[in-house]
Amino acid sequence: MEGGGQQPRPPDQPPREHLQLLLHRSREAKNCAYCPYSRFPVGAALLTAGGEIFSGCNVENACYNLGVCAERTAIQKAISEGHTSFRAMAIASDMGDFITPCGACRQVMREFGTDWDIYLTKADGTYIVKRLEELLPFSFGPEDLKKM
Ligand code: THU
Repeated sequence: MEGGGQQPRPPDQPPREHLQLLLHRSREAKNCAYCPYSRFPVGAALLTAGGEIFSGCNVENACYNLGVCAERTAIQKAISEGHTSFRAMAIASDMGDFITPCGACRQVMREFGTDWDIYLTKADGTYIVKRLEELLPFSFGPEDLKKM
């Protein structure tokens, strides 16, 4: 779905004002990005089932492979504060194209279900929304460990 239109919202999507706040919080988080090596700031904002928002930015390191993405920072903040049920995440960057999460982040998101929404934004604020199931189809998750 392209952003900005006036179409009625599907029942499982956040109310417009919650979504606007989520998008805003992802842009705010981007301003905190610690990315002296890539100079590619990213922000993420995660909406819990209870309506709270946890945000995160990418945090790089002089030992390059220790850098962590914005999406995982937000998830780790939420989990460590006791939240494990998520409705949506918004991701922001300075790109002229839609920011899209890396494979590692998709798998970490998937740990917490496949039926939540990821808002991929452009620097101009427009967005598309994808179900996690679309971003990581035919995925492996906690339920699979019980199938042995
Ligand atoms: N990055 C994110 O934080 N999220 C994404 O969705 C894509 C990439 C970060 C990782 C690294 O700090 C920088 O952007 C360049 O890859």
